[in-house]
Amino acid sequence: MMPENTRFPESFLWGCATSAYQIEGSPLADGAGPSMWERFAHTPGMMHNDDNGDIACDHYRRFRDDVRLMRDLGLTSYRFSIAWSRILPSGTGAINQKGLDFYRQLVDALLEGGITPMATLYHWDLPEALDDRGGWLNRDCADWFAEYASTCFEALDDRVPRWVTLNEPWVVTDGGYLHGVLAPGHRNPYETARASHNLMRAHGAAVQAYRAVGAHQIGLVVNLEPKYPASESAEDRAATQRADAYMNRQYLDPALKGTYPPEMREIFGDAWPDWPAADFEQIRQPIDFLGINYYTRGLTAHDPSAWPLYARTVRVPQATYTETDWEVHEESFTDILRWVRDRYGDIPLYVTENGAAFYDPPVAADDGVHDPLRIDYLRRHLRAVHTAIKQGADVRGYYLWSLLDNLEWSLGFAKRFGIVHVNYETLERTPKDSAKFYAEVIASHGESL
Ligand code: NOJ
Repeated sequence: MMPENTRFPESFLWGCATSAYQIEGSPLADGAGPSMWERFAHTPGMMHNDDNGDIACDHYRRFRDDVRLMRDLGLTSYRFSIAWSRILPSGTGAINQKGLDFYRQLVDALLEGGITPMATLYHWDLPEALDDRGGWLNRDCADWFAEYASTCFEALDDRVPRWVTLNEPWVVTDGGYLHGVLAPGHRNPYETARASHNLMRAHGAAVQAYRAVGAHQIGLVVNLEPKYPASESAEDRAATQRADAYMNRQYLDPALKGTYPPEMREIFGDAWPDWPAADFEQIRQPIDFLGINYYTRGLTAHDPSAWPLYARTVRVPQATYTETDWEVHEESFTDILRWVRDRYGDIPLYVTENGAAFYDPPVAADDGVHDPLRIDYLRRHLRAVHTAIKQGADVRGYYLWSLLDNLEWSLGFAKRFGIVHVNYETLERTPKDSAKFYAEVIASHGESL
């Protein structure tokens, strides 16, 4: 049998993704203000092992070395996030020029290396000063975000061709406002609904602001997790519908169709109000692309104890699980890319994150880090993207999460997603076997898969 041809289109972008608080360190350097993650990470009991982002990968000071690593890998694009409180230390008002300078230098180094930047405006690090004013619960947040976004556009749109408004609004609200496991650590369904809706208003406001000053492209990044019923029972099928609405349609429907899924009321009850009609006009702004973060699927069962969704993901016997307990299931990746095209039309797509934490053995005597499980995960998922493209999904690039091992939020440094190992004592970087694998994939346009 002929081996399958896995060559990707010539213009396909090959990238890695990171985020500011997870890698930069020096969160208060050069006039930056604190973010709500700074506060959360320093609150006893919130972080695994009391880890925090004070040093992280020290990327703030070592970014030139990291760009060199990217060049060695042959990356053609890099997705990073801008820390709002480096640019506007109080969230609004006075601009901190040194914060803008840092990102300008980073972007210049990328461009010199032939690497196209993709900048995310919000990867979870809301300025603490704004959290003190209610954060995403305050309707003014849409204006705050548009002000911050415009400052970034004015400073960097001449060099940044693709912008992302929000990264994973679902995680911001589910982790931060419903379950309290991420900043700001609240547990309140009324707040969850309000924060979700306000995030989407902020997204719309930033897109509107972009149309006034920007000349390139702007989009939204959502994490999608296809849901399948654990059995054919009516209860499991209804639970699957709710889980799908909550995770996959809650943000895409308002952004692209101007409505919320009907299940939102069923899930949140009284906590889900009737939103002002004008809000939907603000939210539904034409966007240039959609970014999809995919890690796993969810086999879903009805569970009366799992408030407020009454649904839970069941464990699949015989399946492989990553270190974050996510089932490896690449066919679902193809499914969800096709689903997006079928439900929302032919919008350009980027895989803005995909990757896995696995146990990595220590740096070996031959100076290598041998991570065959990560290579296997990446091979399967890249092939799944290729299949989706063959089936008609307009996927234009792939950003592997992540370039470096980094701070996996409240799970701390223990979960390693990098294709480059970071020694947190010495901050030394060592490319893992998966880095070599990815470099070959890039060099061969996917043929080596
Ligand atoms: C999603 C988030 O965007 C990123 O910050 C996180 O580290 C990865 N997924 C892995 O969980």
